[in-house]
Amino acid sequence: MDVAIIGTGYVGLTTGVCLALLGHEVRCHDVDPGRMDKLARGRPPIYEPGMEQAMRAAARKRSLHFVSELADAVRGAKAVFLSVGTPSLPDGDIDLSYLEAAARQIAPLLAPFTTVVVKSTVTVGSCRRLEQIIRDVRGAGDFAVAANPEFLREGSAIDDFMHPDRIIIGSDDERATTTLKELYGPLVARTDAPVLVTSAENAEMVKHAANAFLAMKIGFINEVADLCERAGADVTTVAKGIGLDQRIGPAFLQAGPGFGGSCFPKDARAFAATGRRNGVPQSLVETLIEGNDRRKTALARRIAFKANLRKGAVVAVLGVAFKAATDDVRESPALAFIPALQDQGFVVRAFDPQAMPTAAKELPDVNWCSDAYEAATGADAVVILTDWKNFTELDLGRLSERMKGSTLFDFRNILQPEAVAACGMTYFGVGRAGLP
Ligand code: NAD
Ligand code: UGA
Repeated sequence: MDVAIIGTGYVGLTTGVCLALLGHEVRCHDVDPGRMDKLARGRPPIYEPGMEQAMRAAARKRSLHFVSELADAVRGAKAVFLSVGTPSLPDGDIDLSYLEAAARQIAPLLAPFTTVVVKSTVTVGSCRRLEQIIRDVRGAGDFAVAANPEFLREGSAIDDFMHPDRIIIGSDDERATTTLKELYGPLVARTDAPVLVTSAENAEMVKHAANAFLAMKIGFINEVADLCERAGADVTTVAKGIGLDQRIGPAFLQAGPGFGGSCFPKDARAFAATGRRNGVPQSLVETLIEGNDRRKTALARRIAFKANLRKGAVVAVLGVAFKAATDDVRESPALAFIPALQDQGFVVRAFDPQAMPTAAKELPDVNWCSDAYEAATGADAVVILTDWKNFTELDLGRLSERMKGSTLFDFRNILQPEAVAACGMTYFGVGRAGLP
């Protein structure tokens, strides 16, 4: 099928590459010329494992094209995906203006009959609004707008897209639902993924409710972690015990420095704003947002207290990306944690395997280092903030030798406390009381 992708960020690029690999003819377009230039040269503008190879495979099939003119991308496409950003407004609601602009731009270019597929995460009612914008330009009848939320995670985007837990198609137009079923046909044949065809409103709500629920699992386990720490239990074992209940499940029960990224914080705020707008406050989610924001700075104060740090102390932060396997720092815990350390008068040295160029723009006055050992040199305390696999393989003896102090905070619980203690360091995890 002939497909256009508008917006080639994490979601648009992954969608375009995967649909091309599934046998469709895909044309991708982005307003950012720098991004288009890199893509045209076969270089992903983001760090995403497997993306460059997948782009190469799609290029070999001659089914993936990056086109700088919007009209060239949209012309003749049976499905036009909108995958532009939906950032937060000051009141927490989403800023629909990027999607509205894209809808206005594509409206005169659509061939009859086209399905406009909203891949971006939107609040309930947004697809109807976008439909109205297109209808104002070209009248009704020869197009439909369908919600088709995406559930991929950064760091495993291609694998998640290719092995979905479900495909949600939100439209009451039979031509649109047929198009989307046909489009995802090869994927369903390979994976047997369930397809839920429903209204646009339901599809929009599924996406926000799913993200809010996953974020609540994390917020919950983080509170349990704090309680474990005080009450003499270990959250890693408690999470395992909880997760063995099939009704709860083991995923998303990893305690840490608070959830970040471009989605959970933004989408939780949008869900809460939708609740307020509809006169049905989502009090659980409102509390979650507040607790998660507070956590990042509270942890910065906690390390000062536990390691007895004085003004001028040097803290090494390992990991600034919001999670492992990405260079994305949007709403990363590091963006709140590091300034909170600096506010206390500490000197911050930091290292991240991929995210330093993006983080440096957001975090001034950090001494960026070329590896974990350089960051630890002369440090009073070391903090692991991102769960990069490299950090589980650190030479702890070498790290300890480089430090001035001897306290290691493992805010992702990825190290063995005994191994840290054996190298002469004092270990503090998250929610792990009674450890050496
Ligand atoms: P992103 O910021 O990485 O990419 C958005 C892209 O859209 C940018 O490259 C931007 O230049 C481009 N763009 C903006 N306006 C445009 C226009 N009028 N025409 C063409 N291009 C335009 O965003 P993202 O992380 O890919 O997220 C996109 C949407 O998908 C958001 O709604 C997000 O909530 C949702 N989502 C994201 C993820 C994720 O893991 N990042 C997962 C699921 C859903
Ligand atoms: C998340 C969802 O997992 C995706 O399904 C969804 O499509 C996406 O948001 C979105 O809507 O954009 P993502 O933000 O890429 O994906 O990454 P996650 O793996 O969900 O992690 C989000 C944050 O929660 C990270 O800061 C991570 O470190 C944290 N986290 C995650 C925990 O602290 N504990 C966990 O157990 C899991």
